[in-house]
Amino acid sequence: MTSTRTRISKAVIPAAGLGTRFLPATKATPKEMLPVVDKPAIQYVVEEAVAAGLSDVLMVTGRNKRPLEDHFDRNHELEQALRRKGDDDRLERVQESSALANIHYVRQGDPKGLGHAVLCAAPHVGDQPFAVLLGDDLIDPRDPLLTRMTQIREERGGSVVALMEVEPASIHLYGCAAVAPAGDEDVVKVLDLVEKPDTADAPSNLAIIGRYLLDPAVFDVLARTEPGRGGEIQLTDALQTLAADRSLGGPVHGVVFRGRRYDTGDRGDYLRAIVRLACEREDLGPEFRAWLREFVREEMRADTAGTDGGGPGGSRPGLEPVMQGAAGL
Ligand code: G1P
Repeated sequence: MTSTRTRISKAVIPAAGLGTRFLPATKATPKEMLPVVDKPAIQYVVEEAVAAGLSDVLMVTGRNKRPLEDHFDRNHELEQALRRKGDDDRLERVQESSALANIHYVRQGDPKGLGHAVLCAAPHVGDQPFAVLLGDDLIDPRDPLLTRMTQIREERGGSVVALMEVEPASIHLYGCAAVAPAGDEDVVKVLDLVEKPDTADAPSNLAIIGRYLLDPAVFDVLARTEPGRGGEIQLTDALQTLAADRSLGGPVHGVVFRGRRYDTGDRGDYLRAIVRLACEREDLGPEFRAWLREFVREEMRADTAGTDGGGPGGSRPGLEPVMQGAAGL
């Protein structure tokens, strides 16, 4: 186990997935580049890493991921065109992504799972603790989860994962943790981890969300972790090994996150994330919220009149999440 005082400076962002849930949009565009309002999803994740002091970012990419590299690189032609037009605002926004962080790339040749993607980062990370951020989870910058996780790692060493309570019916979508109290109200000791259990077998409703601070001992463990759920090498399984034998890389703790998390992993959640974030934007929010309020009113009127075309009974099951997204309008 590395010293608790070793400051974490490296973040690993796995970005080799095929994004099949978003086809055909992701046929020629990486899913990480899909816009959330007006920024690609991946930029939010890099900004979060940088805000937590992680300015060395390694992206684990695969085939067809060139647009990612281009996005975080300079685009001189575009910059010149904007400069000529005197469009300073856009110029600044274009330059922002290329000046954000020191970004490196490594390719995951075979899509053998998240654990394998993290293992591809070993030569770059070396013998230091590091962070892993998964691009499907966006954490609101007002709820600095990584900073809290860093504090816990500094106090307790080992590895730290982010956990969140989910509906029991959704636990099969996540890694799930069995935990014990660990003193602080938002901190637990991880006793056991299982990747995507059936609801009936899940040890809790605490789901791993995509933020991890890992002791480098995880690399040795990953190298000997057999394929698990879905025939893939699972990061959850390697963490389970670490949690079960703390002599390998220290304990595993969980920070139970109760802040704002936006899931962009499937189409419905992606749409809800955009609605929420658009509502909160200073530039777009006021007008968008006014439109959304009117939209919801119209939908409700149509529901009451039974003329919404939503099938027998005129119910609109799809409306409910939109309204959740609009909470606090
Ligand atoms: C991955 C992990 C899972 C974790 C989830 C968080 O699953 O394997 O343990 O709970 O990310 O988003 P994926 O969503 O990539 O299938």
